Amino acid sequence: MSETIKAADEAGEFPIPSGVFAEKVLSVRHYTDRLFAFRMSRPASFRFRSGEFVMIGLPNAERPVFRAYSIASPAWDEELEFYSIKVPDGPLTEHLQKVQPGDTILMRKKPVGTLVHDALLGGERLYMFSTGTGIAPFASIIRDPETYERFAKVILVHTCRDAAELDYGRDLVATTRNDPLVGEEATAQLVHYASTTREETEQMGRITTLIENGKLFDDLDVPPLNPATDRVMICGSMAMLKDVKAICEAAGLTEGSNSKPGEFVVERAFVD
Ligand code: A2P
Repeated sequence: MSETIKAADEAGEFPIPSGVFAEKVLSVRHYTDRLFAFRMSRPASFRFRSGEFVMIGLPNAERPVFRAYSIASPAWDEELEFYSIKVPDGPLTEHLQKVQPGDTILMRKKPVGTLVHDALLGGERLYMFSTGTGIAPFASIIRDPETYERFAKVILVHTCRDAAELDYGRDLVATTRNDPLVGEEATAQLVHYASTTREETEQMGRITTLIENGKLFDDLDVPPLNPATDRVMICGSMAMLKDVKAICEAAGLTEGSNSKPGEFVVERAFVD
């Protein structure tokens, strides 16, 4: 241990590694015993595209643990928002879930990701399929005016185990519909379709099931997935990504990337 690290350790604080931003937590909200969201200050020089992710860590070790987090706030917001699961004994989330306003969060400087407009061709409808904290990048995208300029209908689909886990998405959609910048467009163009798989609610079923049995399209009163009109963004667990990707491919949609935009894009919800 170097003298600096030793001193920091004794003082209960570690030096900030080079090449990272050190930002302050502004607010924290716990949604369930598994889920929480926090907002932090945004470095003046930090630019990102709605839907991208960054590496987040805490200054609590000589070599802090960093994990990928989708930025849940839109590119125009003065603050940065993140939505996280609390992984039992998770090397980062075990500590991250305890942050309070005023605490320091580390963030690597380069945002990346494929759940961005640049990776998708234009179309009529944009579907965002998410499970659990996979809704985070879509929290950014539905608050971005470009989304409503590019797509006539914007469909946010979110499936969780129980109703309380849908609260973040419900609050998000309500706030977005009242937002001074995109509220009018979101009220007219944004559809929120939420379902649970374990708790009994009025709308139940996995996204995969709801697509395959056609219920999603019947409920929304739209035709099934079609590469001529539909674009898809997918974010959830590895298993969910694989299954929804297979459904998109079977419907004839091709995967896009930043260098070659396509008809659907995939990103895993990283913290697991
Ligand atoms: P289920 O309850 O049937 O497992 P988790 O909290 O474990 O990340 O799960 C979030 C949601 O994603 C749950 O509703 C879960 O359903 C659903 N899910 C898990 N695996 C898949 C999959 N392969 N395809 C679609 N949905 C999935």
